[in-house]
Amino acid sequence: MSIHIPRGTQDILPGTSELWQYVEAKAQDICRRYNYKEIRTPIFEHTELFQRGVGDTTDIVQKETYTFTDRGDRSLTLRPEGTASVTRAFVENKLYGNPGQPTKLYYIGPMFRYERPQSGRMRQFVQFGIEALGSNDPAIDAEVMALAMEFYRELGLSGLKLVINSLGDTESRIAHREALINHFKPRINEFCSDCQQRLEKNPLRILDCKKDRDHELMATAPSILDYLNEESVAYFEKVKQHLDAMGISYVVDQTLVRGLDYYNHTAFEIMIEGEGFGAITTLCGGGRYNGLVEEIGGPETPGIGFALSIERLLMALKAANIEIPIEQTIGCYLVALGEEAKDKSASLLFELRKAGLSAEKDYLDKKVKAQFKAADRLEAKYTAVLGDDELAANKINVKEMSTGEQVEVSLDDFITYMQDRLKEE
Ligand code: HAM
Repeated sequence: MSIHIPRGTQDILPGTSELWQYVEAKAQDICRRYNYKEIRTPIFEHTELFQRGVGDTTDIVQKETYTFTDRGDRSLTLRPEGTASVTRAFVENKLYGNPGQPTKLYYIGPMFRYERPQSGRMRQFVQFGIEALGSNDPAIDAEVMALAMEFYRELGLSGLKLVINSLGDTESRIAHREALINHFKPRINEFCSDCQQRLEKNPLRILDCKKDRDHELMATAPSILDYLNEESVAYFEKVKQHLDAMGISYVVDQTLVRGLDYYNHTAFEIMIEGEGFGAITTLCGGGRYNGLVEEIGGPETPGIGFALSIERLLMALKAANIEIPIEQTIGCYLVALGEEAKDKSASLLFELRKAGLSAEKDYLDKKVKAQFKAADRLEAKYTAVLGDDELAANKINVKEMSTGEQVEVSLDDFITYMQDRLKEE
């Protein structure tokens, strides 16, 4: 019986892994320019972190976590997202003590959700996310959204829609919550059992229900924007002004609520429109989470961030026919004929690599013709042929594959010669 890969996961094979490396390098580069530093946190955390951080009433925590008891009888959970972990690390390592507030962090790593797999929805997926902790300046909300939009733009994606909303501060949310309960309560028995549960626990989540999305009460539900207090309105206005000033276009959608509990004030998603992308249209989501640091046991600290999955990004690039430039060639392939030459080629190969060049040789005892074929397949820029005769004359024959030009080089100069020819490698 053969063993298969678990549902909702994937092997990323050579040929595709280069695409991952490319977009990850792009993410690192934009974070460097925006001054976000990398943080790496464990793949699993105490289950309580996500119950408190992401929220007990969210689908993610109620239905989608991979939770297990370890041999020491602790309940652990594979992280379903990064914000709770980053916040925990921020508190635990007292990063708030940094004089250079705010603390700006980014991460790239696998997340785990027990979801119904479909294209763009995986059980293990990789998020690139950023978190800015310690600033209440609306300009940083705009910065976070700008970084996400620029990341996509620099990769060549266009036609993305930035959708924003404000969920307001605690006071506004309480007022809105009351209004939602009053709105849905009289007819809550027409809603799904999940929504009936949500009514008292977290009525905002009803607005995000996929099953009841066409119910007439949805369209007439009270909008958070009508319940924002003066301060929240002013904050949202400032965020929009900053986006306007940067020339980043957006639409306000008062039904955008997000699937995690920790948000307040700014919430946003980046959507893709267009054919070939199927049902999944959200590429990126994020927002402000003032209060989360306190929830995890730290001092009062505002925060904002986003996360996007590399899987959906690659789907979007593919749907848009964007070619990622991938260098897969090899600098020099050593072709050897004869026993002694073969032995010598192994140490020459070692020296080439030591000198910083990419190089390969035959390890399958192939005939000369097959070795040349292998060099072709690897798109070697040069082949260097070493026979026992050349070896006796302390020479090697170097051929530039693109021109067919051949030169004999002394074995003593071979490595520096190749270094010179392949300088830009
Ligand atoms: P989220 O909306 O749950 O937010 O996920 C963010 C992004 O992760 C989604 O927009 C999508 O690109 C990707 N994603 C989510 N689930 C899957 C899946 N099953 N398969 C593939 N991709 C997926 C968060 O995770 C928050 N932590 C974002 C955040 C950071 N908010 C503030 N800071």
